[in-house]
Amino acid sequence: MEFKNVLYEIRDGIAVVTVNRPDKLNALSRATLEDIASAMDAAEGADEVGAVIITGRGEKAFVAGADISEINTLDAQSGREFAQFGQGLFRCIETFPKPVIAAVNGFALGGGCELAMACHMRVASDNAKFGQPEVNLGIIPGYGGTQRLPRLVGKGVALELLLTGDMITAARAYDLGLVNAVAAPGQAVAKAMEIAAKVVAKGPLAVRGCIEAVQTGLDMPLEEGCYLEATLFGLCCASEDMREGTKAFMEKRKAEFKGR
Ligand code: COA
Repeated sequence: MEFKNVLYEIRDGIAVVTVNRPDKLNALSRATLEDIASAMDAAEGADEVGAVIITGRGEKAFVAGADISEINTLDAQSGREFAQFGQGLFRCIETFPKPVIAAVNGFALGGGCELAMACHMRVASDNAKFGQPEVNLGIIPGYGGTQRLPRLVGKGVALELLLTGDMITAARAYDLGLVNAVAAPGQAVAKAMEIAAKVVAKGPLAVRGCIEAVQTGLDMPLEEGCYLEATLFGLCCASEDMREGTKAFMEKRKAEFKGR
């Protein structure tokens, strides 16, 4: 599959989506967002794909933000549409039925940090830098950053990062719970592949259920979230994978899940 601004390949059942504008530090132009959307559609439709990794080309940047050259001419109406377009894509990533891991190989700024936060997990190389520097441009984040950052790191630190525009290191991002693991430079994708392979070996319907329960349930009152969880649990109980998984445990062998 070929896209102008994104590389798409399948390695060992894992789709690797690489934002491919290294000369612009992989900034997210509208066309790049559209290519990411098409790549995610391809990954969703491909039965052989069990997980997705999103990364950026080169050693320097994951994604250095939305493309600033496209922001300069926005007005109230087009600015709102601009934000809603990116938010729509990032919500699709957040609720994607297969696990999505960001392999943050360098700068993850603005829309890049927001893209990483929309993924289910984040792995960073230890030279990675995270930040929401929009205030330097006289704007606020528009792709969900003001909402996902406080949910991930808490209100106090989120406001610190949003108001100062400061960048933080991978080590601090790890301490804050913003990233799940830190890898040596150049090894973020390899580490993300390791985590993805672990998840791909589990029951796909159960993995999907966990994603839905967390991503949808967390925005509900506890009682409703638990109701959703019980419904999804019931759906798992109707699956062949549940029979196989529990049977394999009792027979002391490895389960062979079929995603049915
Ligand atoms: N949008 C558009 N182009 C961008 C970009 C962005 N978000 N981030 C970097 N670029 C471009 C630069 O304009 C430059 O292009 P050019 O060579 O044609 O002039 C190229 O990428 C390299 O960036 P440069 O700034 O020269 O690299 P640097 O090493 O000096 O600085 C950063 C790196 C990340 C600190 C700096 O590029 C930066 O601050 N980028 C913007 C980050 C940001 O504000 N993101 C939020 C956007 S809403």
